[in-house]
Amino acid sequence: MCGIVGYLGEKNTKEILLDGLKELEYRGYDSAGIAVLQNGEFSNYKAIGKLVNLEEKTKDFITKGFAVGIGHTRWATHGKPTELNAHPHLGESSYVVHNGIIENYAELKKELIADDVCFLSQTDTEVIVHQFEKNLKFSTNAFEAFNKTINELDGAYAILLTTKSEPQTIFFAKRGSPMLFGVNNEGEKYFASSDTPLIGHAKEVNYFEDGDYGYVSKNEIVILDKNSKQIKPIYIELSKNKLSAQKDGYRFFMEKEIYEQSAVILDTLMGRLSDDEIIFDELDNNIFEGINEIKLCACGTSYHSALSASYLFERYAKIRTSVEIASEFRYREPIMEKDTLFIVISQSGETADTLETLKMAKNAGLKTLVICNVDNSSMVRLADATILTRAGIEKGVASTKAFATQVTIFWMMSLYIAKIKNSLKSEEITRQISLLREIPASLKVSNEMHEKLKRLSKRYLHGHGFFFIGRDIFYPLALEGALKLKEISYLHAEGYPSGEMKHGPIALADPELFTIALLPEHLHYEKSKSNVEELSARDSTICAISSKEFDKADDFISISKCTDYMLEFFEMMVVVQLLSLEISIRLGNDVDMPRNLAKSVTVE
Ligand code: G6P
Repeated sequence: MCGIVGYLGEKNTKEILLDGLKELEYRGYDSAGIAVLQNGEFSNYKAIGKLVNLEEKTKDFITKGFAVGIGHTRWATHGKPTELNAHPHLGESSYVVHNGIIENYAELKKELIADDVCFLSQTDTEVIVHQFEKNLKFSTNAFEAFNKTINELDGAYAILLTTKSEPQTIFFAKRGSPMLFGVNNEGEKYFASSDTPLIGHAKEVNYFEDGDYGYVSKNEIVILDKNSKQIKPIYIELSKNKLSAQKDGYRFFMEKEIYEQSAVILDTLMGRLSDDEIIFDELDNNIFEGINEIKLCACGTSYHSALSASYLFERYAKIRTSVEIASEFRYREPIMEKDTLFIVISQSGETADTLETLKMAKNAGLKTLVICNVDNSSMVRLADATILTRAGIEKGVASTKAFATQVTIFWMMSLYIAKIKNSLKSEEITRQISLLREIPASLKVSNEMHEKLKRLSKRYLHGHGFFFIGRDIFYPLALEGALKLKEISYLHAEGYPSGEMKHGPIALADPELFTIALLPEHLHYEKSKSNVEELSARDSTICAISSKEFDKADDFISISKCTDYMLEFFEMMVVVQLLSLEISIRLGNDVDMPRNLAKSVTVE
């Protein structure tokens, strides 16, 4: 998804902007650009594709002394990924970068065209800079024109604008898309759409709230809130460590992140387990008081972890649980009652659809909780309570370790609620807590397993589709396995409940239909086995994953013997992740940055 950086200072502005954009690269983008205003003159560079193309274009461009710069990585929404559509967008003497969507851009554009304004791009963003310049003609200063402009915009945005009429200033506005601002002792000032570009540069940062706008110049920082009241920045200290993850010898970040799962789960569990209870210091004791139902809302992989939670919550905590896809929930006029705890799940904490449902729940007066991987993200700042998943920075667009940590948190939560509600015997809670301690071992990738999957992957590069099938909580895992495969291999894959195949999809069965069957020994084994046999009888190619030998399969992937189905869940999760990875690598794909996808989707 799009990323923004901004800089005012004496250092090498070009390098600072490009380095900042590099830190945002993992979010997914298809073009990038920078604009630098120095000694009253603008320099602007744009390139499609990866940042190396922009670096190449700017290699002879030198910045020296005080300058004002803005930069952007664009993930196309309105208009193709072309150089003309890349940000920053130019008016006559101003440049703008923008994340989000300007919903009324078409009508504004129509009026501007009627005033003879010439548009170069197909983007919604370009109207901002032209509207600003139109307003500038009738305003006493640039800030007045900027203020007027943002009042005329509908939709979501994080905006940075620079103009020759105020050559030492960056104007900013935030509504619905994340943005922060940072300072250091050397008088430098930074903007970015997430904190990673600022680590190592800014000492402390201010996260803008929705409705904040203002300007920052060499000597001034002016922030107004949504009521146009001037406010003081609330600075939070920023970590000094450059967290920019390296691949550590792995071919892709995704591979590294699959291998990291065992270690990050130790962090997820740390300080949260005693022998007989789960400890969530971050939750108020009374959070479940008066709660009769839990509603979970998320997108993508996080939605799949929410589905897993619904099995665990109803089974162990005996609490009614429903799960919603955020983009659907937003517009379907849902019933929200105060005895419902509303939980959103998000790796990034910034996904626009999920964030919006959190706002809806808050407005309806529900108690809210976010399960999130990014502290200080928009959702964390908004929800009543937060449980951090502690997966560390996840760079691969296809989520792996974040999913593992989310499911772990949900398993812990189901026991935490079970204890409060007395819905499980204390010996059972103790037994399951000792199982939780075994997750890291279940997630260790053995050389043998990885080599087997590498070899096997060559047999799954074609066909007319994949069905990942499972029952119970293995159904969400099947959905997640299929999502992983389609995200990075571009092959068609579906996740399906095993028992439902006979009600339609079995019509597709033939040797070119690949069934990846999840067969846990400790949960509905016989039932699942019969479903796979039905497919095998119709000549579908079967790849079975189980700890129990299964002779009806064409390929068999043996996982370790476990004492509980939840440990089988984690063992199988690693297998489906690695299988997708190896198939995609054989197909020659960039698995860390799959085509058309973005890590953090901050538009609806
Ligand atoms: C995007 C990513 C997915 C992710 C989804 C939800 O679509 O490509 O990998 O699962 O957003 O993201 P979140 O940060 O809210 O978990």
